[in-house]
Amino acid sequence: MSDDSTKTTHFGERTVPEDDKKGLVHGVFSSVASRYDVMNDLMSGGVHRVWKDAMMDWLAPRPGQRLLDVAGGTGDIAFRFLRRAPDATAVVCDMTEDMLVEGRKRADAERLAERLDWVVGDAMDLPFEDNTFDVVTNSFGTRNVTRIEDSLSEAFRVLRPGGRLMTLEFSQLPNPAMQWAYDRYSYNLIPVMGQVVANDRDSYQYLVESIRKFPDQERFAAMIRTAGFEQVKYRNMSMGVVALHSGWKL
Ligand SMILES: C[S@@+](CC[C@H](N)C(=O)[O-])C[C@H]1O[C@@H](n2cnc3c(N)ncnc32)[C@H](O)[C@@H]1O
Repeated sequence: MSDDSTKTTHFGERTVPEDDKKGLVHGVFSSVASRYDVMNDLMSGGVHRVWKDAMMDWLAPRPGQRLLDVAGGTGDIAFRFLRRAPDATAVVCDMTEDMLVEGRKRADAERLAERLDWVVGDAMDLPFEDNTFDVVTNSFGTRNVTRIEDSLSEAFRVLRPGGRLMTLEFSQLPNPAMQWAYDRYSYNLIPVMGQVVANDRDSYQYLVESIRKFPDQERFAAMIRTAGFEQVKYRNMSMGVVALHSGWKL
C-alpha cells in the first residue's frame, strides 16, 4: 500500500510533494494577479479573447441559467456568459483571493456586479451543494489543480442533471513541427515577458511548463467520461494550442 505522505506531483518541470502544489500555485497567482489580464493579452497577442468567445459560441448561454466558473480568476468567462444571457447569474470560484479582487473591480466597471458572486474555494472540494448549477466552466484552471480527477468529480456533483461542463485549456498540437515552433516561442519568450511586465519570471516559467504536463485532448476527454459525464466531445482551436471539452450530466 502506498503512503499518502510520499505522493508527489509536478509543479511545472519540478517534482514536488502533492500536499505542496496547491500552496505553490496559490503563490503564482497571488503574485501575478494585478498584471494577469494585461499579461494574457500580451502572451497570446489578444487571441485568448477569441478562444473565450468561441467557448461561449459552443456553450450558447441561455436566459436565467446559473453558472459556476471554477478557477474563474478575474472573471473573463463569467462576464462573457452574463453578457450573452439576460437574467442569468454566475458564481466565480477561485482559491486565490487576489485574483477575485481584480475581478470584482472589473465587474463594477462592467455593471455586472449584481448578477455575480465571488467565492474563495478549491476546485477539488467545491463549497456548494449537490445539483446546484446549470453550467460549470473552467478556463485555464484545470492544469493547475493537483488532482484533476477530483475537480471533475466535484464539477459533476454540483451540476444539476441535464447540466453541462465546458473547459478551455492548453493542449497538444498534433503536428510535431508546429509543436516544436510553439515550444520555442513559449519557453523562450513568455518568461521574459513575465519578467519585463510583471517582474516575475518564475511564475511565467511555471505557466509554460505546466502546459506541457497537461494530458492531451483524448486523455483529458477520457478523464471527463470517467467522472460520469456523457456525450463528451472536444474541439481544437489554433491547431491544438488550446482545446474546448464539453460533457453533460445526464
Ligand atoms: C490561468 S488562471 C485562469 C483564470 C480565468 N479562468 C481565465 O481564463 O482567465 C488559473 C486560475 O486557477 C486558479 N486555481 C488554481 N488551482 C485552483 C484550485 N485548486 N481551486 C480553485 N482555483 C484554482 C488560480 O488561482 C487562477 O486564478
